Amino acid sequence: MNDRLPAAAAANLTYFAFASAATPAAPRGTARPVGALPELLGGRYRIERLLGVGGMGAVYRARDLLREQFGDPEPWVALKTLSDDCADYPDAHALLYSEFALTARVNHRHVVRLFNFEVDSASQRAFITLELLKGPTLDQLLDERPGGLPWAELRDIAVPLLEAVAHAHSLGVLHGDLKPGNLLLAADGLRLFDFGLGQAVAGRLPGLPRLCRERITAWTPRYAAAELLDGAPLAAAADVYALGCLLFELCSGSHPFGRLDARQAREQALDCQLQRPANLPTHCWPALRTALALDPIQRRIDVAGLLAAFRAPTQSWLRRWLRPVPG
Ligand SMILES: Nc1ncnc2c1ncn2[C@@H]1O[C@H](COP(=O)(O)OP(=O)(O)O)[C@@H](O)[C@H]1O
Ligand SMILES: [Mg+2]
Repeated sequence: MNDRLPAAAAANLTYFAFASAATPAAPRGTARPVGALPELLGGRYRIERLLGVGGMGAVYRARDLLREQFGDPEPWVALKTLSDDCADYPDAHALLYSEFALTARVNHRHVVRLFNFEVDSASQRAFITLELLKGPTLDQLLDERPGGLPWAELRDIAVPLLEAVAHAHSLGVLHGDLKPGNLLLAADGLRLFDFGLGQAVAGRLPGLPRLCRERITAWTPRYAAAELLDGAPLAAAADVYALGCLLFELCSGSHPFGRLDARQAREQALDCQLQRPANLPTHCWPALRTALALDPIQRRIDVAGLLAAFRAPTQSWLRRWLRPVPG
């Protein structure tokens, strides 16, 4: 079954809500409300066109006039700013800065490369600049491949993805919104982006701004672990669950629990009924099935464990046949 229908698209958007005015707000980063997005930001980035919008932000292609002035033949960057709804919120600058600070720490060839965080003084718009990526997002790829990817292609996406997230976790950075729309297949390989809902692992990376989940709730319904929907703080296990959904979807073309979110799937114990997708080698299935456990206590695998399973060589029938007989 292919559940990637237009009606399901809304469930793939990040659900993002600021708490009511009754909840105390963080100190205001700026006294003035933000203005309309100007054509020139920071005195040097000329907005050329919209590349994409997500639950929180809008990403534009912009020309860096400074680079151009110095003769750079490729002066284009991607420029991310918060959507108008989010940009007016008192925490808006801290939200974007948190994304910048977390992404900047995860220096990895499969994580988008960051340039700068700035606030345009005239409009009071905060924005980040990052490498301009070209290629389909995994969402777009899945739309074109409704039956999922064969193992050789799946592996070429899964291994870099798991390497990037394992690296981020080893540095104490959690992504918080792993899903096909936050991954892009560039000409030189996969890129993970959008650490906008990321967090530092509790007790690590002191000094980084932390999203206060009492003031904002944010998740993507189809990839959020049940414990997040229950109100638990983000932890590495929730990234593992989202990766499980993503990998299952890449190999089968369908989300493991269809249109249900993790809490609805838990009510019916659907994780006990999952079948191995045909494109997935048998040696990867125990790891993937464990990552998809709806109860975090049963989810006894980390990203490094998933990576080890997906990296392990596939046993060919010839090798199995040639295995020496004991005795
Ligand atoms: N560096 C980039 N280069 C090109 N396009 C990008 C880049 N970053 C994001 N995009 C596009 O913009 C969309 C929204 O970006 P994202 O960072 O996910 O915003 P949000 O936080 O609102 O989800 C992406 O799905 C993608 O299509
Ligand atoms: Mg996004």
